[in-house]
Amino acid sequence: MATELTWLGHGCWFVQSNNAAILLDPFLDDSPTAPRKSEDVAPNFILVSHGHFDHVADAARIAKRTSATVVSNFEICEWLGKQGAQSTEPMNIGGTIELPFGRVKMTIAHHSSVLPDGAYGGNPGGFLLTLADGKIYFACDTGLFDEMKEIGRSGIDLAVLPIGDRFTMGPDDALQAVKLIAPRQVAPSHYNTWPPIVQDAEAWAQRIKNETKANPVVVSPGGKIKL
Ligand code: NI
Ligand code: MN
Repeated sequence: MATELTWLGHGCWFVQSNNAAILLDPFLDDSPTAPRKSEDVAPNFILVSHGHFDHVADAARIAKRTSATVVSNFEICEWLGKQGAQSTEPMNIGGTIELPFGRVKMTIAHHSSVLPDGAYGGNPGGFLLTLADGKIYFACDTGLFDEMKEIGRSGIDLAVLPIGDRFTMGPDDALQAVKLIAPRQVAPSHYNTWPPIVQDAEAWAQRIKNETKANPVVVSPGGKIKL
């Protein structure tokens, strides 16, 4: 089956690939834009980029219900384990692990990562997924950084970049990121959840078309993207 992504609002994505269901940064029950609730998703794997509530909120609940394996940094895996996640794959920045659906590498992110109860959440990260039919780079919550060029060197089929500004890259820096990564397709994320991160994604997509070779794909929450 060709890889298909569904945007579940904010920084949350559902990826179906090679008979695996992968949920990134689950924030559903309290998200004002999520098209589904946590009880409506059944992932095999849950990827968590960093400890902020808008990325980790439903992770323990879903992991307990589905027995999904949590993939995150060591500290967040420990924290979710204490809350009942039975299966974890701890890793850290620069590391790659092999999973049944493909390879997962944790990349750097310029951000912070404290957990909702104040516990240390390790370093924030992004994820580079090498799947049977292509590569997806989730920058997750980050500012712009020059090593995105290195991430792009391996050939990225889809880059998912934050454009919300204030807490992450905004549209201008996300455009620069596309120039560094040179992905085949790019999708915006982490915007329009609340008033402080409202952005015009269509206007941004037009700039991507005008100034880069990447194909921008803008979907509404619930919308799907084919790799
Ligand atoms: Ni964050
Ligand atoms: Mn966030």
